[in-house]
Amino acid sequence: MNVRLPRAATAAIAASLLLGATQQALADDYDLQREVMAGGCANCHGTDGARAGNVPPLAGRDADYLEERLLAFKRNEVADTTIMNRIAKGFSDDELASLAEHFANVEQE
Ligand code: HEC
Repeated sequence: MNVRLPRAATAAIAASLLLGATQQALADDYDLQREVMAGGCANCHGTDGARAGNVPPLAGRDADYLEERLLAFKRNEVADTTIMNRIAKGFSDDELASLAEHFANVEQE
């Protein structure tokens, strides 16, 4: 049997396939962008957010807590900060929320 789709249906299917591919590419871009941002944090917090030294670990901690802390640093609401107030100012609120989510999803060692 030879099934022929009307031209409009074929175009609609092609368009939705294309849209799916674009959305995937955007999601990949977003993940990459977040990886790059998180790379800067790794200098002090460890590649996986887990190595501590004097720097508090981030891996596996509550995303809401981390976001709250980052926003507090950005707004100069933390009295005993040495560096995070300056670092947090370099990011938008959305980026800080994204970074908090990123580190919350890293497994603790
Ligand atoms: C230059 C070293 C350095 C870098 C880079 C750095 N941090 Fe920090 N971070 C610290 C230090 C030190 C503290 C302790 C607070 C302070 O002294 O500012 C801290 C504290 C924090 C806290 C609070 C943790 C808690 O237990 O309350 C969060 C959240 C945080 N950093 C997230 C980040 C994120 C996200 C990045 C990347 C955008 C980052 N840090 C980059 C040094 C760094």
